[in-house]
Amino acid sequence: MTAIDLRTRYLGLDLPHPVVASASPLTRSVEGICQLADAGAAAVVMASIYEEQIVAAELAELALLEADGGTHPEASGGFFPATVTERSVLDQRLETLRRAAERAGIPVIASLNGVSRAGWTDFAGQLEQAGAAAIELNVFRIPADLSEDGPHIDRECVEVLRAVKASVRIPVSVKLSPFHSSTGHFALQLVQAGADGLALFNRFYEPDIDLATLRPQPDFDLSTPADVRLGLTWMSLLHGHLGHTSLAATSGVWSGDDVVKYLLTGADVVMSTSALLRHGPQHVGVLVHGLRDWMERHGIATLDALRGRLSAAQRGGDPGAFLREQYRAITTSRRL
Ligand SMILES: Cc1cc2nc3c(=O)[nH]c(=O)nc-3n(C[C@H](O)[C@H](O)[C@H](O)COP(=O)(O)O)c2cc1C
Repeated sequence: MTAIDLRTRYLGLDLPHPVVASASPLTRSVEGICQLADAGAAAVVMASIYEEQIVAAELAELALLEADGGTHPEASGGFFPATVTERSVLDQRLETLRRAAERAGIPVIASLNGVSRAGWTDFAGQLEQAGAAAIELNVFRIPADLSEDGPHIDRECVEVLRAVKASVRIPVSVKLSPFHSSTGHFALQLVQAGADGLALFNRFYEPDIDLATLRPQPDFDLSTPADVRLGLTWMSLLHGHLGHTSLAATSGVWSGDDVVKYLLTGADVVMSTSALLRHGPQHVGVLVHGLRDWMERHGIATLDALRGRLSAAQRGGDPGAFLREQYRAITTSRRL
């Protein structure tokens, strides 16, 4: 039997295997993060901190303070009303991170979704101080302003990354949207601006329409294994072109086979959320076992021997022509 070594490296972190829990409600609390650690996750990404949520909570607290100050003159003279003794939303999230980083025994990567430049950099600094092993920038930006062009949007993201990199010492990765006009070029720009890692791809949740009320209806579906395809394509195109930048795959990972596919195209780690939400934290073990089992059956002992074997760079030829030919063959197939 082959001795299997699953060790990998992501964002400068040495991990025992490549299965990481991505940001989700499971990674919002200390208990949730510890459960994932106990189930064997190599690392977790904490649920995102959203700047507007923090700011809204702070404004609400301020309004309460002012209201209280008006009715109780002593409040402005040094008395603190009850609301102030409650910790702010940011403090609570930082405390969760601090305790999870201490207790989980695995790296806890913080996820940040900012709005303003100061928000991105100030919160990043506080996350670093609270014990984050790295920071993942969750860049969610719908270019709803039709006058904005693609390069402008790319530049904004790159500038956010540069600003965060300049304000922390821990590694910083960017969780990409798949909707940039030239994903590969954008990835290269991020790498040149100092990204330590890229996570492909974020999944967005667009509202449906409720035909009874004729209103947008917030809704979301868990992913399916078919959702690996876009990530596989881009992982395969990027692997070998980004120097030492780490690559994480996120979307559609439900089984060990999905983990193997992402590794074959070049991922350093493979993240899962939907499958863990559906099956519980223990499902981490199924993913790791599935990977190990596949490697044993194929006589592959290390991830280095597996990683990137099916990347476009390894395969050679013109990847654009290859993908075009696949597209043409499928759309003209008589079997369908
Ligand atoms: C309920 C839910 C909450 C999520 N919260 C976050 C979040 O806070 N930050 C983030 O970057 N991604 C978040 N995600 C996206 C996941 O981290 C992951 O990238 C995405 O679900 C694709 O992986 P999957 O196919 O394994 O579900 C969330 C996903 C779900 C389903």
